[in-house]
Amino acid sequence: MIDLNGITPFAEGGNRICFVHPNNSDRCLKVIHKGLLKKIKKNKPWYKKFRSLESFDDNSRERDGYNQKALKKNDPEVWKHLAIWYGMKETSIGMASETELIRNGDEIAETLESYLLKNGLTIEIKNAIKDFQSWLRKHLVLTKNLLPHNLVLKKEDNKIIIKIIDGIGSHAFIPLPVLFKFFAKRYVEKRIKLLWSRINWDLSGRKGKWK
Ligand SMILES: Nc1ncnc2c1ncn2[C@@H]1O[C@H](COP(=O)(O)OP(=O)(O)OP(=O)(O)O)[C@@H](O)[C@H]1O
Ligand SMILES: [Mg+2]
Repeated sequence: MIDLNGITPFAEGGNRICFVHPNNSDRCLKVIHKGLLKKIKKNKPWYKKFRSLESFDDNSRERDGYNQKALKKNDPEVWKHLAIWYGMKETSIGMASETELIRNGDEIAETLESYLLKNGLTIEIKNAIKDFQSWLRKHLVLTKNLLPHNLVLKKEDNKIIIKIIDGIGSHAFIPLPVLFKFFAKRYVEKRIKLLWSRINWDLSGRKGKWK
């Protein structure tokens, strides 16, 4: 069991607390906030209350997301824009999802959100988003809505490579995109369109609704 007691997290999202792996500084361990699952379920509409607690658990969803067909291909390029997933691990504060920690040297990679708020839409970041979109279209990797705080920026050979660190898996209620290429294409196009609407919303000072 991995002991996380006394270790300060390096980040926290709405659902999970993130730690640098105590035995491997290139990996990250994400544990669901204590009590969060029950709280989420309590606030869900009645028809969602019947779903198991596990279906609200971001770590279980992540595990399913990493099991999708697109990632079974024997092509290293499918991993180009993804943090590698190393499975679920038991820790002293609960089950954790273990993933590659995206770093640039000693620093943990910054999110697309923080980059955009600091620098705006530079040519460099536009090119990085273009590469990312082409990869999504080519490999049809299914994701939930792509939000700039769930994408981080890895610097490689003076280029920025966008990496998805949260939100892998399909968000569709009926799994048509999982089953048919036609629907997967349509689904991915919608995620790209919504990514742009979220980027523009972030850049406009978050006025009104983003979708
Ligand atoms: N693999 C990683 N590499 C670098 N930074 C990461 C990684 N995973 C998480 N982070 C940082 O930690 C933050 C929170 O992680 P994550 O998005 O997984 O938590 P979450 O609670 O599931 O998020 P949300 O609020 O979107 O549900 C990210 O926004 C990012 O800044
Ligand atoms: Mg997140």
